[in-house]
Amino acid sequence: MTDATKPKALVIGVGAELGLGAALSMRFAREGYHVFISGRTLHRLQHVATLIEQSGGSATPHVCDATDEQSVIDLFDAIEESEGNALDLLVFNVGNNMPGNIREMESTYFTDAWKTTCFSGFLAAREATRRLLPGNATLIFTGASASLRGRPGFGAFNSAKSALRTFAQALAKEYGKEGLHVCHVVIDGGIAGQKWLDRNNGKMSQEQRKHLISLDGLTDTYWNLHLQKPEAWSFEIDLRTAVESW
Ligand SMILES: NC(=O)c1ccc[n+]([C@@H]2O[C@H](COP(=O)([O-])OP(=O)(O)OC[C@H]3O[C@@H](n4cnc5c(N)ncnc54)[C@H](OP(=O)(O)O)[C@@H]3O)[C@@H](O)[C@H]2O)c1
Repeated sequence: MTDATKPKALVIGVGAELGLGAALSMRFAREGYHVFISGRTLHRLQHVATLIEQSGGSATPHVCDATDEQSVIDLFDAIEESEGNALDLLVFNVGNNMPGNIREMESTYFTDAWKTTCFSGFLAAREATRRLLPGNATLIFTGASASLRGRPGFGAFNSAKSALRTFAQALAKEYGKEGLHVCHVVIDGGIAGQKWLDRNNGKMSQEQRKHLISLDGLTDTYWNLHLQKPEAWSFEIDLRTAVESW
């Protein structure tokens, strides 16, 4: 159920409980926001919504494929039709790390990486600007080391993440004056979350944790970006652990 008295947040790209999308959703709910949580898998979204409700918050799950134009339009329509205020805060978090050598790569693999990581960010941003402006809202894009650097074996993903970053810059400059605070967070390293656990037999030692960026640290940063005053906005922030070589 939507709570008409609360400010509203939308997170696009919510999956596992220990993923960044879920952690952000739970954080915004703790801060008193009603959170629309969106991803492709209903049971994962329902699980996150249940966790939020169990800790006294409120959330609405919406299945949406962020690469599909009609699906994104339907998501924003459904939010608009729900009771209460317009969205105050949006996070675009979709973007799977897609490895692959350029010599062997099918062209569709390259365009799929771009669709998932960059084109879907455009679809979300276009709907947000059409529906929320003029007005005050924060739109945060999740970036990665790939947003800034090419790396062997990741040509498709690197090019898509860096394209998303310059798209976010253009958006920030085009709509800042109308009240949209656009931010881009460069996550420069692995996250201590489900993706890492999946690749490492579900285990994470204390020593390994020191080399991974914490979900708590990330959610603090996103929240603080949202709190910034228009007289002192950041466009971009980069985050890494103290032990990262960079
Ligand atoms: N994990 C890392 O180490 C790391 C490091 C640096 C940067 N990042 C960035 O952090 C973000 C993800 O964080 P995370 O790795 O913790 O995972 P996460 O937040 O759980 O991942 C986002 C979720 O988005 C959903 N998703 C994927 N494609 C989608 C689509 N087309 N439409 C709607 N939803 C979609 C997936 O769930 P469903 O499959 O259920 O739809 C996925 O679990 C990405 O932008 C990534 O580039 C991650």
